[in-house]
Amino acid sequence: MYKEFLNFDDNFKFGVSTASYQIEGGVKQDNKGLSIWDEFAHNPDNIDDRLNADVSCNHYNKWEEDLDLMKLMGIKNYRFSIAWTRIFPTGKKESLNLKGLEFYKKLIKEMIKRDITPFVTLFHWDLPLVLQKEGGFANKETIDDFFDYAKYVIDELNPLVNNWMTFNEPWVYSFCGHLEGVHAPGIKNLKTALQVTHNILLAHAKIVEYVKKTYTNLEIGIVNNLEQIVSASTKEEDILAAKRWKEAFNSWYLDPIFKAKYPKELEHFYRNHPTSNGEVENVMPSYTQEELDYICENRGDFLGINYYTRRIIAFDKTSYHLNAKNIFRPMIQRAEFDSWEINPEAFYDLLVSVKEEYGDVKIYISENGTTGQDIIDENGCVHDNYRIEYFKRHLAAIYQAKADGVDIQGYFAWSFIDNFEWAFGYTKRFGIVFCDYEDNQRRVIKDSGHFYSNVIRKQGYYIT
Ligand code: FCB
Repeated sequence: MYKEFLNFDDNFKFGVSTASYQIEGGVKQDNKGLSIWDEFAHNPDNIDDRLNADVSCNHYNKWEEDLDLMKLMGIKNYRFSIAWTRIFPTGKKESLNLKGLEFYKKLIKEMIKRDITPFVTLFHWDLPLVLQKEGGFANKETIDDFFDYAKYVIDELNPLVNNWMTFNEPWVYSFCGHLEGVHAPGIKNLKTALQVTHNILLAHAKIVEYVKKTYTNLEIGIVNNLEQIVSASTKEEDILAAKRWKEAFNSWYLDPIFKAKYPKELEHFYRNHPTSNGEVENVMPSYTQEELDYICENRGDFLGINYYTRRIIAFDKTSYHLNAKNIFRPMIQRAEFDSWEINPEAFYDLLVSVKEEYGDVKIYISENGTTGQDIIDENGCVHDNYRIEYFKRHLAAIYQAKADGVDIQGYFAWSFIDNFEWAFGYTKRFGIVFCDYEDNQRRVIKDSGHFYSNVIRKQGYYIT
């Protein structure tokens, strides 16, 4: 039988990932301000199980236990996000709340004591509610507010933190939140979604510019959710639909950063966007070439890629945004998140294609993981073999892509612990550690957590 030890080089960083709103709880503690997610999740109709993240994993009070657990598991790198509303409760610098800063300072210092390197995300979707009332990221002034917040925490946390991630998944934030309305702030408007994307790219560039001018010891980059896209058939209409999808999900976020442009054909489509009543609308955001040049010049040091799925795309005239739909094939395994294929080979293809299209980019896989109905059995164990298989195959894709020249520097499993999965509430568990919401948020390391600990300890694993 085939059996091989996949040995990752010593510098390859294995880590875990979380996000503030999903794990912290403590929504009212230490003067925290409200974010758009605090409001959105308080409307039970927005969340599958009608719950919110007021308490969630209660990490805000159990952070020490969490760091001890990470240490016990041998975890060396931890990607987490800062809640803007803990630092500036209204989003504006005048509202500075030192208690919020102290929380993260303490957390980071204790992390470092345990030999865990922090990778800090500045924005994982929990925009201060007050800023949303003024238009949120559709309003260009929010770029300056973000800059004030980001600059403040970067300066204050220097030299403790060397690795910064600006925005998590601008596509999801812009489109799930401003076109589909299934995430906060619950808006449904294509033009707004595209303007939010553009402003986020500008905000990213602005803080990168500052960091690169001010510090030599820091690295900073953006995190995108990239999907591998294929056409459902060789019919021209499907090929074009798949191209639009790829350009909307991937290139729209990478081309400005690496090529100072938006994808031309999709831009044309957005300028003459078909509406349901047969008319056309122009949904392109206002932008200038100078802005695109600025975004490209200040792209940052690395690209974070969150990978979860491949998509097969077919033409669909009735589908509003792209005249395209995602189809599924029964022979391809899917996650419990049933619109997600489990497809490590596509992950490999995607990684290679990023190098082909954008050159030698330094990459972190900032999220990757899967979900299922995990339970604690009578012996107190959580047997999530399916997740171990998932990690083995996806890490193998990374291993192979590295061998083929893609510059991947690290991998962060999503997630360290089960948490509040946005509009799905607590119905989806992604953790390598189980969170028992019925028993005082007790933590139990799942089998996949033990597996991952061993991968970290040996800097590799056997694949068969
Ligand atoms: C990503 C998000 C992360 C988590 C995973 C499952 O889109 O960045 O917060 O929800 O999906």
